[in-house]
Amino acid sequence: MTRLAGKNALITGAARGIGRAFAEAYAREGARVAIADMDMDRARLTAADIGDSALAVAMDVTDQDSIDAAVAQTADAFGRIDILVNNAAIFTAAPIVGIERADFERAFAVNVAGTLFTLQAVARHMIAHGVRGKIINMASQAGRRGEPLVAVYCATKAAIISLTQSAGLNLIGHGINVNAISPGVVDGEHWDGVDAFFARYEGKAPGQKKTEVGQAVPYGRMGTADDLTGMAIFLATGEADYVVAQTYNVDGGQWMS
Ligand SMILES: NC(=O)c1ccc[n+]([C@@H]2O[C@H](COP(=O)([O-])OP(=O)(O)OC[C@H]3O[C@@H](n4cnc5c(N)ncnc54)[C@H](O)[C@@H]3O)[C@@H](O)[C@H]2O)c1
Repeated sequence: MTRLAGKNALITGAARGIGRAFAEAYAREGARVAIADMDMDRARLTAADIGDSALAVAMDVTDQDSIDAAVAQTADAFGRIDILVNNAAIFTAAPIVGIERADFERAFAVNVAGTLFTLQAVARHMIAHGVRGKIINMASQAGRRGEPLVAVYCATKAAIISLTQSAGLNLIGHGINVNAISPGVVDGEHWDGVDAFFARYEGKAPGQKKTEVGQAVPYGRMGTADDLTGMAIFLATGEADYVVAQTYNVDGGQWMS
């Protein structure tokens, strides 16, 4: 299939997990993809696995110079950026009385400021080059409601839903669509860390939390990164031109709004 033929995408946090699955899916659809990540060893491996249409790009979304350099490198290599996926994020968890200021600031720096200022840099590029582009932010069901041990991460993802609305309304005047995907529970290295956290805080056996959350999904299991690629492709194509400032749940039926 070539639904993204001729398109160029920048995907943050694409060295592994969901970002990697999106990069693979976009490449299968004919796009060139910048695998932008602070883990350059993994980014290079991912780009090599995908092949000629992929480029590993060093990027730390908490650093403005790094954002600007990654956007410039991608634009130079590809000529133009048509699609941005703001996917890089970190998870953090603690009971309210145990939250540390440094963890709060790091989570907001990566998940919220990283998303906003990468979106801004790419939007400036798109406007300057007359690109009617697509920007996709990664929200989460964690942003739809709070969780007792996950206050900070939940708050960052609620901020993503809000930023998607504001940026979507502001940028559609330039023909740039901004939307978000809200996954539920997606198995992978990210959730290995979540499972280990709950093993520590709730005395669960390793793997037990994953089993429980999977059983609680109406579809009947945890998601996989590949469960999300259909929405990521759709939102990047012209089929989504009239979709503005929305956050789509792709979560096996967990959340309805
Ligand atoms: N896995 C889930 O269950 C789940 C659920 C809902 C939402 N999400 C969201 O989906 C996205 C991808 O999740 P995942 O499970 O693939 O996570 P992951 O932890 O497997 O991958 C995150 C990637 O981001 C990179 N990264 C971290 N900090 C960075 C920084 N400062 N600059 C650049 N890159 C950085 C990491 O190196 C890594 O490659 C995230 O936004 C996450 O919050 C995940």
